[in-house]
Amino acid sequence: MENPFKFGTIVEDEFFTDREEEVAYIRQFMNSANHLILISPRRFGKSSVVEKAVKTINRKHITVNLQQVTSLTDFSAKLLKEFFKVHPLERVRHLISHFRIIPMVTTNTLTGSMEVSFQPSADATVLLEDVMTLIEKAHSEHDRLIVVLDEFQEIHAISTGLDRILRAVMQRQKHVNYILLGSQESMMTDIFENKKSPFYHFGELMRLKKLPREDFHRYLTLRLTPCFGQQSVRLADRILDYTACHPYYTQQLAANVWQVGMLQPETADPFGKAVEHIVIAHSLDYERLWMNLNRTNKWILQRMVSGKSFQNGEQRTSTIYSALKKLQKQGFVIYTDRYEMEDPFFKLWIEKEM
Ligand SMILES: Nc1ncnc2c1ncn2[C@@H]1O[C@H](COP(=O)(O)OP(=O)(O)O)[C@@H](O)[C@H]1O
Ligand SMILES: [Mg+2]
Repeated sequence: MENPFKFGTIVEDEFFTDREEEVAYIRQFMNSANHLILISPRRFGKSSVVEKAVKTINRKHITVNLQQVTSLTDFSAKLLKEFFKVHPLERVRHLISHFRIIPMVTTNTLTGSMEVSFQPSADATVLLEDVMTLIEKAHSEHDRLIVVLDEFQEIHAISTGLDRILRAVMQRQKHVNYILLGSQESMMTDIFENKKSPFYHFGELMRLKKLPREDFHRYLTLRLTPCFGQQSVRLADRILDYTACHPYYTQQLAANVWQVGMLQPETADPFGKAVEHIVIAHSLDYERLWMNLNRTNKWILQRMVSGKSFQNGEQRTSTIYSALKKLQKQGFVIYTDRYEMEDPFFKLWIEKEM
């Protein structure tokens, strides 16, 4: 039997659960002339929920992940490549005549996949403007294109000033709805909430939370039952207690529990075995991560792991606060209603090492 749990990539269809309100909200929002900004810590399900929403809207949509973009020129090429997927080249050839720099389009005759490139010497700003103009021209107010830019906080890393250039061209577009997703809370709020940022108040800000426990519990129990029968309810509880409903870690743990159940059905404690397996599998990474942390950060994480208060006089409040912010930026710590460690398995690793 195939493992009914999936983690690491965008989840769809039978792997996707709940988020009904969010999907409905995104869909409805796309009916307006506004843009949407979706923020959460990484691996909360942003890409999955947006993919689900845009797929079920009967409109053309394209996605570019800024984490995969290497330069401004590459960004334009990737946008254009995605654009050609929804508008076959033959049908929009006449719209490309305005391009000041002609793109090179090659098709791999074996796979049918297409590559778009530009002369390396081409002016990157001109390229982006031309691609954005094409997008605008190919659509209308009644048929807006949905453009999803994932990991949007990377905009600063791609090229300095890209935010200004992009904002200037976006400002002139009327036939596009943008959905901008980002994982780094502080960077994303800086881009959209800071008055000095070109993207200040660009669109509606939406924060994605973890999955509701009840729904996730139902999802887990249903899928664990073929392997664990009656035990499944209790197993689902233990998994969710352990991961605090974090979408990614929950799926990861459930997948491993399932694996143990299928391969070693005689195991008395499949939950414990699965946890142990994950920690061992990642211990090299954890060791490296740990070694690269400074003393204050190590101290903070150790206090967190043992559930002790930070205020014991050992560190100044301002030091603790700024360290927590940095740990959050680096993804070690997330803040929901309180600070907690992002990775429950790294947490266990630290506990064992202490
Ligand atoms: N709606 C969902 N139902 C079930 N699992 C989910 C859901 N959303 C996310 N996940 C789990 O979380 C993982 C990360 O999701 P992803 O959409 O890539 O998050 P993000 O884009 O926020 O980093 C997925 O691989 C999956 O295991
Ligand atoms: Mg994502």
